[in-house]
Amino acid sequence: MVLLNHILSFSGLFVLLTHANSSPHAPSRLLGVDWDLWTTLNASVDGHLHLSRPFELPCFSLFEGQAVSPDSLGCAAVQANYTDPVFRSEHFGAYMQSQWETCQATGSGCLLDDSDPTNPAAYQDKDCQTGNIAPAYIDVQTVEHIQAVYAFSLKTGVRLSVKNKGHDYKGRSSGWNTLGLWVSHLNAGFMSFNETFVPESCNTSYRAITIGTGVEMQQLYAFADQHNVTAVGGYHRTIGTGYFLGGGHSILSPVYGLGVDRVVEIKVVTPDGRFRTVNECEDSDLFWALRGGGGSAFGVVTELTMRVEPQLTLQAAIIEFPANLSNLVSWYELMVNNSLRWGQEGWGGHIVGGSLIHVNPLLNQSAAQASMQVAIDFAVAQGGSGLIDELPSWNAFFLKYVTSAEAPVGPELMLGTRLLNTSLFATDSGKIALSAAIANALPFSTPYIVVGTPFLFPYVEGTTSVTPAWRTSLWHFSVKERFYFNSTLQDRQSEYAQVDQHIQVFRNLTPGSGAYFNEGDVYEPDHEQSYWGSNYKRLLEIKEKYDPYRILDCWQCVGWRGAGDPLYACYVQI
Ligand SMILES: Cc1cc2nc3c(=O)[nH]c(=O)nc-3n(C[C@H](O)[C@H](O)[C@H](O)COP(=O)(O)OP(=O)(O)OC[C@H]3O[C@@H](n4cnc5c(N)ncnc54)[C@H](O)[C@@H]3O)c2cc1C
Ligand SMILES: *[C@@H]1O[C@H](CO)[C@@H](O)[C@H](O)[C@H]1NC(C)=O
Ligand SMILES: *[C@@H]1O[C@H](CO)[C@@H](O)[C@H](O)[C@H]1NC(C)=O
Ligand SMILES: *[C@@H]1O[C@H](CO)[C@@H](O)[C@H](O)[C@H]1NC(C)=O
Ligand SMILES: *[C@@H]1O[C@H](CO)[C@@H](O)[C@H](O)[C@H]1NC(C)=O
Ligand SMILES: *[C@@H]1O[C@H](CO)[C@@H](O)[C@H](O)[C@H]1NC(C)=O
Ligand SMILES: *[C@@H]1O[C@H](CO)[C@@H](O)[C@H](O)[C@H]1NC(C)=O
Ligand SMILES: *[C@@H]1O[C@H](CO)[C@@H](O)[C@H](O)[C@H]1NC(C)=O
Ligand SMILES: *[C@@H]1O[C@H](CO)[C@@H](O)[C@H](O)[C@H]1NC(C)=O
Ligand SMILES: *[C@@H]1O[C@H](CO)[C@@H](O)[C@H](O)[C@H]1NC(C)=O
Ligand SMILES: *[C@@H]1O[C@H](CO)[C@@H](O)[C@H](O)[C@H]1NC(C)=O
Repeated sequence: MVLLNHILSFSGLFVLLTHANSSPHAPSRLLGVDWDLWTTLNASVDGHLHLSRPFELPCFSLFEGQAVSPDSLGCAAVQANYTDPVFRSEHFGAYMQSQWETCQATGSGCLLDDSDPTNPAAYQDKDCQTGNIAPAYIDVQTVEHIQAVYAFSLKTGVRLSVKNKGHDYKGRSSGWNTLGLWVSHLNAGFMSFNETFVPESCNTSYRAITIGTGVEMQQLYAFADQHNVTAVGGYHRTIGTGYFLGGGHSILSPVYGLGVDRVVEIKVVTPDGRFRTVNECEDSDLFWALRGGGGSAFGVVTELTMRVEPQLTLQAAIIEFPANLSNLVSWYELMVNNSLRWGQEGWGGHIVGGSLIHVNPLLNQSAAQASMQVAIDFAVAQGGSGLIDELPSWNAFFLKYVTSAEAPVGPELMLGTRLLNTSLFATDSGKIALSAAIANALPFSTPYIVVGTPFLFPYVEGTTSVTPAWRTSLWHFSVKERFYFNSTLQDRQSEYAQVDQHIQVFRNLTPGSGAYFNEGDVYEPDHEQSYWGSNYKRLLEIKEKYDPYRILDCWQCVGWRGAGDPLYACYVQI
């Protein structure tokens, strides 16, 4: 309560920074705290405290209402790399879905036009504002830095946010009115392969790779490949730790499980200040909670260890055709009708519009060809193409196909998603109902289908905290919408509301199922049930045990205090 009262004593959005007269960006008070306390904190984090800057700032001549000199070289680099995930991941003030840099409720922010970043309408004579970016952050290098920040938060009431690579779809790594812990450089170079990794205090051994929290997918895949093994991870170069804590689907998940299924040990600094090694033998309750409950509700993770598979030969199906509303209706129907068989045969992949990329680690090339022929024939009849390509490894597949097909970054994008029960695909009535719902959704949004549920994976009951609905689903289904750099509040409210309305149709088709915590509707109704189902009650008890003073908080995370918490003043109301 002390914390909450402290926050409530803030009068509004614009008391964040009180500028000293001498220098426009040297505040005497930040987040309501005197500068000398910040100086002390800075010393205890070895000088790694920084004031934040939107990464688009070099293009602007006004910053928080004060004149600044634009930096034309810096601006050109931002413009040239505006939709480059590697470039974005290197800036604290950049997010992959760029609306999370802005305060969507007030419109304050610093965006460029993602469809043409050189469009001067976005930045000429416009004020660049810090928006939803944490106004100050620690570039975390050590466990001690995290402990110092927890102590600072307890003492001052300043609230915290945790950001790694900034992929979040729901703003959980943004931080209006918070001090940010940026973990992207923490153990960023650290990767280690062990043929016989034994989790601390345990007897079982695993073939495993340990990664520092700053390691991103493309580094992990290259490292695994060097050791002639396969790591299961996301379909994007720069995804970070949030993946392994919130679920983690891969197109290999149908056979090898979710990211959370593969984690065998996690090192984490809990809000009580302790640095813990957690696994099935030590703090096993917390280990379970971190395998699906998300990171920034339970602690800050510094490294994690995952099981790996042998090097895999993969059959990749690459199918595409020029799509229009009428052939898409038949195409999605074909997808619905064949997906259960494909699932049983070990395929995983993505379907979006007239494009399918799937992989299969179980079939040989001729069996893969026969299995996919019906889809290849469809594409060819529409003037498209289809082939089965045999790849010697996951990394070879990733480099050849994923880096050019991964989801785009830079636009202001939002999702509505649902885990679709396997049972829907098993009956004529289920198939017809699902195909009809997709046909109705098509004029609004081309569904993005992830065939990445742990369909064939031999799950051991009770080992992870993601919603059990993952285990009985075949598709992770999504519709998406976007708004623009110059959107109005009304546009933003309307886009979120439309996504929510369209995905509701799929919720109604799948009563009792759920959704993926990392890729959910920002305004997911009954989110506790959707993301965790029957696991929520225990997750909340574990949250209370390890974070008794409620130092860590994020939107719709375990222990969420609701949209009325002043932390979420930048979320629009729909
Ligand atoms: C382009 C794109 C492609 C994607 N592809 C996939 C995919 O193929 N499969 C899939 O499952 N998901 C995918 N995702 C979703 C992705 O898994 C989530 O966005 C995930 O949360 C990203 O983690 P991050 O650390 O990169 O992001 P961040 O936004 O930095 O963090 C996400 C969440 O994790 C917390 N967190 C991050 N690091 C730590 C840490 N060290 N300790 C404690 N908490 C931490 C943050 O506080 C926040 O709550 C994709 C997202 C994007 C934008
Ligand atoms: C923190 O200390 C470092 C090293 O002294 C300094 O460079 C940096 O500017 C300080 N941070 C802030 C926000 O003053
Ligand atoms: C940014 O874009 C420029 C121009 O295309 C390029 O030379 C540079 O390498 C890019 N920088 C990064 C960090 O990606
Ligand atoms: C691998 O794990 C074993 C058992 O935990 C340990 O003894 C060994 O030092 C580890 N090897 C490496 C290279 O880390
Ligand atoms: C490990 O093995 C020893 C000896 O077999 C046994 O006593 C102990 O209970 C085991 N520990 C765990 C955590 O399984
Ligand atoms: C790599 O792993 C595969 C599958 O386990 C094995 O057949 C192959 O011999 C290994 N290659 C090398 C160079 O070790
Ligand atoms: C899909 O299956 C349904 C139900 O069996 C059937 O009515 C429909 O014709 C099939 N469509 C395609 C394209 O296979
Ligand atoms: C491919 O797999 C099928 C089905 O298992 C089998 O019948 C066939 O002989 C295999 N083909 C080759 C070339 O191995
Ligand atoms: C859709 O595309 C197909 C294949 O290119 C074409 O035959 C068909 O006429 C198109 N339909 C519409 C409505 O444009
Ligand atoms: C879908 O799965 C959920 C649990 O995962 C279950 O409660 C529900 O009954 C299933 N719905 C249908 C229509 O099969
Ligand atoms: C937003 O910017 C685009 C491109 O400059 C322009 O066409 C559009 O009219 C603008 N919309 C609003 C609402 O200002």
